[in-house]
Amino acid sequence: MDVYGLIGNPVGHSLSPPMHEAGYETLGLDARYVTFEPNADAAAAAIEGGADLGVAGLNVTVPFKRDALGAVDPDPLAERIGAVNTVDYGPVHEGEADRPRGHNTDAAGVTRALEHHGVTVDGRDALVVGAGGAGRAAAFALADAGAAVHVANRTVERAVELAAAVPGATGGGLDELDDRVAAADLLVNATSVGMEAPAETPVPADHLHEDLAVLDAVYAPAETRLLREAAAAGATAVGGAWMLLYQGVEAFEVWTGESAPVEAMNAALRAELT
Ligand code: ATR
Repeated sequence: MDVYGLIGNPVGHSLSPPMHEAGYETLGLDARYVTFEPNADAAAAAIEGGADLGVAGLNVTVPFKRDALGAVDPDPLAERIGAVNTVDYGPVHEGEADRPRGHNTDAAGVTRALEHHGVTVDGRDALVVGAGGAGRAAAFALADAGAAVHVANRTVERAVELAAAVPGATGGGLDELDDRVAAADLLVNATSVGMEAPAETPVPADHLHEDLAVLDAVYAPAETRLLREAAAAGATAVGGAWMLLYQGVEAFEVWTGESAPVEAMNAALRAELT
């Protein structure tokens, strides 16, 4: 049996175990997905040494995604984003030392969620609100897929610093958000605003428009105020559960080498969210 898991703190309410196990069951794979909740000072060693316990793969979540970067051999995308959320303890890859391979599937989570909804990224103007881990993954993913990215963040320096690392991107504060929203084709909320707080929104509704696609990284509540107002403006509204699903799908595919059973994984995820 192969053991996969999620390492973070806290991970008690994670939706990943049922989502991944639905995938194993559908493909008839002999595998389990469990959670690990180490103390902060033990996390890096646990991630680096997962293979010693016979673990086949780990997802990494808050607050250990940056620690993971230093505990693995990151692929180029994870290195650029500065965070690892998927560790593969599979056969050591060519030319590398004995450290496990690290990936960042949050980036694919963004582009595959948009793709699922028929949203084109290449050649579009994308506005990423937020410059934390989710914002970094979104900005690199969208730029790599051909979008012109602007990062807007409450702390302007963080946006400017991120934009400097992302090809062709610009960065700024939240003060110019209205104009940026009006000019954008794609909008990603990568802040925590709206999480467990249905009355809050990171983006005023006034300039949302029907040619816009809005992806909200927040998945609880499933329908945030931002998504509700985006839909009311005629925009394409994509909930954070799609990002969660596709980062998991991408990790599943990295680990198993199989095409993930997306529908079964999605059904398991939705069952947990309702
Ligand atoms: P994550 O890794 O989930 O992205 P994070 O690194 O803590 O988490 O980043 C949270 C993001 O939400 C940041 O962009 C943060 O803005 P700052 O960089 O200015 O802290 C943003 N954020 C959190 N609360 C916010 C609020 N009330 N208004 C606007 N932005 C907020």
